[in-house]
Amino acid sequence: MAILITGGCGFIGSHTCIEMLAAGYDIVVLDNYYNASPIALQRVKELSGRDFPFYECDIRDEAGLRKIFAENKIDAVIHFAGLKAVGESVQKPLEYYDNNVGGTVTLCRVMAEAGCKRMIFSSSATVYGMSNPSPLLETYHTGEVTNPYGRTKYIIEEILKDVCVSDPAWSVVLLRYFNPIGAHESGRIGENPNGIPNNLMPYISQVAIGKRPFLSVFGDDYDTPDGTGVRDYIHVVDLAKGHVRATDFALKNTGAEVFNLGTGKGTSVLELVKTFERVNGVAVPYKVTPRRPGDIATCYSDPHKAEAVLQWKTEKTVEDMCRDTWRWQSQNPNGFEE
Ligand code: NAD
Ligand code: UFG
Repeated sequence: MAILITGGCGFIGSHTCIEMLAAGYDIVVLDNYYNASPIALQRVKELSGRDFPFYECDIRDEAGLRKIFAENKIDAVIHFAGLKAVGESVQKPLEYYDNNVGGTVTLCRVMAEAGCKRMIFSSSATVYGMSNPSPLLETYHTGEVTNPYGRTKYIIEEILKDVCVSDPAWSVVLLRYFNPIGAHESGRIGENPNGIPNNLMPYISQVAIGKRPFLSVFGDDYDTPDGTGVRDYIHVVDLAKGHVRATDFALKNTGAEVFNLGTGKGTSVLELVKTFERVNGVAVPYKVTPRRPGDIATCYSDPHKAEAVLQWKTEKTVEDMCRDTWRWQSQNPNGFEE
């Protein structure tokens, strides 16, 4: 029995490989290296002390996928592979629909053919859109998304639900991540964005290490305690452990089930900056700039369903997230370039 992890060389995927191996699962990893380095996988092997099959393959490559299912007995797929940059998705919508939606359809088709009908899918809190109030519950309406990236997540959720209706043998777990940050506590693997980071935490750590002169804080006039945006930051290792519980669940159940993976606690931009400075003893200069279009004031989860059904909840604090990000950033100033 093995679990196929698509996008297993990426940020969340590499941490999930480690937690799945630690929980005793056998894994097979697939990635096309579009946004990842082979060094990440070497380090996963080194940290876990385990070896496993890897395939350099694109999820849109039907023949490549068939080969993986023919050569391995795959019981479930944890599906991370996809493109994830919101701004880029506005410039390149067709690439996002092709990769994320098209790739997932191809993957599901090959899975069904091989008789593997269990999937854990990386969705996003972005599917809740702009108007639902936080804390966000899994039962709230979705689909009011504002960019092609978010729309791919919404469309894939709907496709996977339809697949479960069409064939009751399918088991699909839709995981809506809030804001994953942090890194493995060894400092050996972490987030390695290409070019200028879009997200707050990688930007903070690149300012702290001197790669960028200052952080732009996108607006301080939101209706929040200090005026800056509030998000539910979740440590990537907690998130990875959530996938272990979701896999346990998917192997025992059928149908489609949705879970938020978050802490239930909101943190503002300035709180995150101050915590990073305090726990790491570094300076993060910032300037307040206008709001970023499409941003909302506040977004945090109601995490109780995952706690009740998956027996999973987060353990790590925002301090841990800041410390572990800095350990990774300062020990690997150029990411996975050795
Ligand atoms: P990542 O870019 O680090 O990982 C994605 C991996 O998929 C990369 O290793 C990339 O090379 C690979 N990949 C991309 N397209 C592929 C294809 N067509 N075939 C095979 N491999 C392909 O991103 P991440 O932060 O680890 O995110 C993982 C998943 O979680 C994504 O689906 C993302 O949309 C979702 N997600 C991420 C966040 C976040 O803030 N990081 C939030 C919500 C949801
Ligand atoms: N921010 C700044 N300066 C920056 C970057 C971000 O002030 O340089 C602020 C944003 O305005 C926001 C907060 O920091 O208030 C967090 O922004 P991120 O870009 O880190 O994260 P988002 O919540 O905007 O987006 C993330 C993922 C998306 C996902 C969304 C909802 O990047 O993929 O959460 O789940 F869709």
